[in-house]
Amino acid sequence: MSEIAITVGGVYKSFQGASHPALDGVSLDILKNEFFTLLGPSGCGKTTLLRMIAGFESPDQGSIELDGIAMGRTPPNLRPVNTVFQSYALFPHMTVAQNIAFALDMLGRPRVAIRSRVAEVVHLLRLDGLDERRPAQLSGGQQQRVALGRALAPEPKVLLLDEPLSALDLKLRKEMQVELKRLQAATGITFVFVTHDQEEALGMSDRIAVMRDGQIMQVGRPGDIYERPANLFVAEFVGEANFLPALCVERIDRAGRFQLTCCAAASAILTLDDANGILPGGNAILVVRPERVTLAPPAGALLRGEVPEAIYSGSDLMLHARLTDATPLRVRLSGAADLARFDATGVGFDIEGAALRAFPA
Ligand SMILES: Nc1ncnc2c1ncn2[C@@H]1O[C@H](COP(=O)(O)OP(=O)(O)OP(=O)(O)O)[C@@H](O)[C@H]1O
Ligand SMILES: [Mg+2]
Repeated sequence: MSEIAITVGGVYKSFQGASHPALDGVSLDILKNEFFTLLGPSGCGKTTLLRMIAGFESPDQGSIELDGIAMGRTPPNLRPVNTVFQSYALFPHMTVAQNIAFALDMLGRPRVAIRSRVAEVVHLLRLDGLDERRPAQLSGGQQQRVALGRALAPEPKVLLLDEPLSALDLKLRKEMQVELKRLQAATGITFVFVTHDQEEALGMSDRIAVMRDGQIMQVGRPGDIYERPANLFVAEFVGEANFLPALCVERIDRAGRFQLTCCAAASAILTLDDANGILPGGNAILVVRPERVTLAPPAGALLRGEVPEAIYSGSDLMLHARLTDATPLRVRLSGAADLARFDATGVGFDIEGAALRAFPA
């Protein structure tokens, strides 16, 4: 039996009148029992891809396979998938139990089986005691759980979730993130989750596909995407990053050590995580995560500048620094870092050992 739940093979989709394709050559394998997230800015094609997996759209070119079977023009109701849409539209005149039973009724399941499955789902979603209420008598988070229950009840192999948490306030959203993770682990169903919230994607997913303009920029585990972004777009979209202009003077050795000048700093030898095609004499952009920059005495530091602003958020202190050549640099210090311990007008910064990535400028 295949370990792959969904194969998206070279999919193109252009909507009539659109200036660029909604999906522009997308290929992906999504594994069974995986929490897989499509992450990208508005309009990048996330919903279109999800609708295509569900069978609500068909590709102009390319194919969708579910569990090793090419779907062709198989209609949505005959695919082993279910979808939770952003506007979860519960039936307002039906109770929680009736909403959850709806798909099972449609499938013509026997009454007794429906009753026991509904009870199971109500319990799984922690809706015990609420079965006889109508949606208007529930909180936003409870309504969201009913929508999930309705999609889970017929035991789909794949659950597609299109920004299911975006209507919830921050606290409920955080609770539902944990709940969704728990549900996925408990049911073993493959989840394909859509979000444009990078923090949500990093926290919840087994793997993430970062999309832009109908294309996949990178697929990887959250740690890979954050630590080793494939390009500047991913580095900027996922997590916070500083982008420092640099000039590559020479390559020192095969181990990734480069002689670079950066932001009016004296030439330094830095070890790059990956050279990404940077050549001696070429301009580069260094990607530096704010939490990886360290403060240093100005005299011996690689970079120097000042800190006109620092924002305290309880757990950490974000310095909005300006380097001597006016390049902005954000530095995140954890804990109750004491700003008073350095002179804000002459600060040194080190980025050596900061897991540096660089890309040609
Ligand atoms: N039915 C349609 N007709 C024409 N263009 C469409 C249609 N559906 C989507 N598009 C276009 O295709 C592109 C991708 O849209 P899609 O809805 O997949 O984006 P998305 O990544 O889900 O964005 P969001 O985060 O805003 O939901 C957009 O440029 C959109 O305008
Ligand atoms: Mg969308």
